[in-house]
Amino acid sequence: MNDGQRVSQEMYDWYTRYYTRAPHSAAHHDFCERVYGKDLCQHGYMDMAQLHALLNVLQLSESDHVLELGCGCGLVADYISDATGARVHGLDYIPTAIEQANDRTREKRGRLTFTVGDINTLDFPPATFSAVIAIDTLYFSDLNDTIGRLKLMLKPGGQIGAYYTLMLWNEDDDTTTLQPDRTPLATALTRHGLTFQTWDYTRAEYDRSRLIQKIAPEFQPRFAAEDNLFLFENRMIEANGNAGFYEAGRLCRYLYQVR
Ligand SMILES: C[S@@+](CC[C@H](N)C(=O)[O-])C[C@H]1O[C@@H](n2cnc3c(N)ncnc32)[C@H](O)[C@@H]1O
Repeated sequence: MNDGQRVSQEMYDWYTRYYTRAPHSAAHHDFCERVYGKDLCQHGYMDMAQLHALLNVLQLSESDHVLELGCGCGLVADYISDATGARVHGLDYIPTAIEQANDRTREKRGRLTFTVGDINTLDFPPATFSAVIAIDTLYFSDLNDTIGRLKLMLKPGGQIGAYYTLMLWNEDDDTTTLQPDRTPLATALTRHGLTFQTWDYTRAEYDRSRLIQKIAPEFQPRFAAEDNLFLFENRMIEANGNAGFYEAGRLCRYLYQVR
C-alpha cells in the first residue's frame, strides 16, 4: 500500500466509525443542534442558514431530480426533499451510512433513494439529473474529472449547487486562488465551459469555528462519558485549524451555483 492509498483507507475507516457512532450519540446530537441549528448528522461546514441559502438559490420543486454527493446518512437529502418535493438520490461511499438512510426513509422511497458509490467513479447515464448538490464533498476527488462527469449527468438547463472551502497550507501557495473565480473548483468549472455565480461564506466559517471553540469545555466531557471522544477531537482539530487559517488570511468558503 502506498502513502496515498494508506491515507484514503484511513479516511474511509474514520468515516465508517463516524457513521457507526455519531447517529447514536446524544452529545453529537446536541453538538449539531448548537453548531448547525438542527441535527442532520452534519459533518461539513454548512449550517441551517447555509442550507436555506442553497435552497433559495436552487429553487427546487417536485419536477426536479437531484443527486446529492457525499450524503452521509441522508438527513440533509431527506430535509431537502421534504422542503421542496424534489426527488433526491443520495450517494456516499460508507455502506453503514447508506443503510441507515435507506432504512429511515422507506416510506418516502418514491422521492428518496440512496446508494453506495464513489465520487471518483460516477457513472450515471447522461442527462439523469436536473441538479447536483455537493456539500463539502468535492475535496475527495479529482475536480477536473468529477466536474466533467457531472456536466454529462446533468439535463439541459441543469445546475450544480456546491459549498466549497479552501485552505492554503503552504507558505508559497498563491493567495489569489482564494478569490471565488480563481479557486481550484472555479478553474475546473471554467475548463469545462461552465458559468457560475458565488456567495461568500468565509466569515461564516470563522464564526462557526469560534463557536465550536467556545462550547468545547461543555461538550468535551459529554463525548468522553460516551466513549466518543474521537468525534469531539476531530471537530476541535477542524475548528482550531479553520480559525487559524482564517486569521492568517488563508481560508475561503463559497457557495457556487453552476449552470
Ligand atoms: C465532510 S463530509 C460532508 C458530509 C455532508 N455532505 C455534510 O455536509 O454534512 C464528506 C462526506 O463525503 C463522503 N465521502 C468521502 N469520500 C468519498 C468518496 N470518494 N465517494 C463518496 N463519498 C465520499 C464521506 O463519507 C462523508 O459523508
